[in-house]
Amino acid sequence: MSTIRVELGERSYPINIDSDLLTSKSSFEEHVKSNKVIVVTNDVVKPLYLKSLLGALEGLDVSVVCLPDGEQHKNLTQFDAVTTQLLEQHAARDTTLVALGGGVIGDLTGFVAACFQRGIPFIQVPTTLLSQVDSSVGGKTAVNHPLGKNMIGAFYQPQCVVIDIDTLKTLPAREFAAGMAEVIKYGIIYDAEFFQWLEENAQGLKDLSPEHLKFVVKRCCEIKAEIVSKDEKEHGIRALLNLGHTFGHAIEAEQGYGNWLHGEAVGCGMVLAAKAAFKKNWISKSDLDRMIALIKLFELPVEAPEHMNYDIFMQHMQHDKKVLSGAIRFIIPTAIGEAVVTKEVEQDILQDILNR
Ligand code: NAD
Ligand code: GLY
Repeated sequence: MSTIRVELGERSYPINIDSDLLTSKSSFEEHVKSNKVIVVTNDVVKPLYLKSLLGALEGLDVSVVCLPDGEQHKNLTQFDAVTTQLLEQHAARDTTLVALGGGVIGDLTGFVAACFQRGIPFIQVPTTLLSQVDSSVGGKTAVNHPLGKNMIGAFYQPQCVVIDIDTLKTLPAREFAAGMAEVIKYGIIYDAEFFQWLEENAQGLKDLSPEHLKFVVKRCCEIKAEIVSKDEKEHGIRALLNLGHTFGHAIEAEQGYGNWLHGEAVGCGMVLAAKAAFKKNWISKSDLDRMIALIKLFELPVEAPEHMNYDIFMQHMQHDKKVLSGAIRFIIPTAIGEAVVTKEVEQDILQDILNR
């Protein structure tokens, strides 16, 4: 088993990564605060993995909240539904929530944990590639608003993250590809060697080789833990983790949550960010081509929806959480392995890359 620590003083926690962890009692017991545990999951993940998890939680007083599946349910209606069930089940301040599912369940459960009685402990058990490499780590929790993605949320760290890579065996190929967008992101913003490893090992990953998966999940969690430990609340370097997200969130909101997967929108957003970088002469043509080629290699879309032009993108991007004093801040690569946060993407460049 690999263990990575997110170092945040008294809020530090471990991320454990291995095969067959879901059934392991020891992964959970020291992080559960009292006898009472409530598992939050959805109707797709529940039949696949709840039984294994209940084995690991044997001996505790466990109940289950099951939500409808999908990004369109990451909203205040489901927040309210979970809270009601916690109250009906007499959850208390030392009740531990366990989020079993992908990023939607993790973000929503984390936000409920942050708010319920002003904060109760929670454990992340991510079951998608995207949630294993990104959303379960770092304490960003949120729900969507019809006017903007993740607009209502809190920074709230889990007690631990338990990553069982075996759960990826049942993940649909499209969801796996969406997770690869966030994996490629780490290569572009932080680690050129890792980017090259991905280029050279794409087939092993697509074949779900356990060794390849463990390496990738571990490297991504290491990078994320390092960045979050330096900048928990995104005053600086953490913003780099949003590469592709400003454009991507616009696509998700415009298309209706759940129609483009989050990772697909991020993949396409990274292509747009790379194109802006190339227009600014910040990256070479060969770096641009390598970024687009790797994103394409994992069957991610590299073109925005046909009807989306500059005006439509701008309408959505005005709501981005990175807008400060009215200026949109973009994450733009400056090489493979490096990126910056900048307001300096000129209107003519944006028009050029967004109007096709
Ligand atoms: P998701 O949670 O919707 O999961 C994708 C689909 O896979 C769902 O249908 C789900 O039920 C299903 N599923 C989950 N595990 C499965 C398994 N093992 N086998 C078969 N099916 C499985 O989507 P996601 O891509 O995991 O997460 C996307 C969300 O994460 C977005 O809401 C995004 O905003 C958020 N996110 C948050 C952060 C953060 O830092 N908090 C970072 C990145 C993304
Ligand atoms: N996924 C972006 C972040 O965690 O900061």
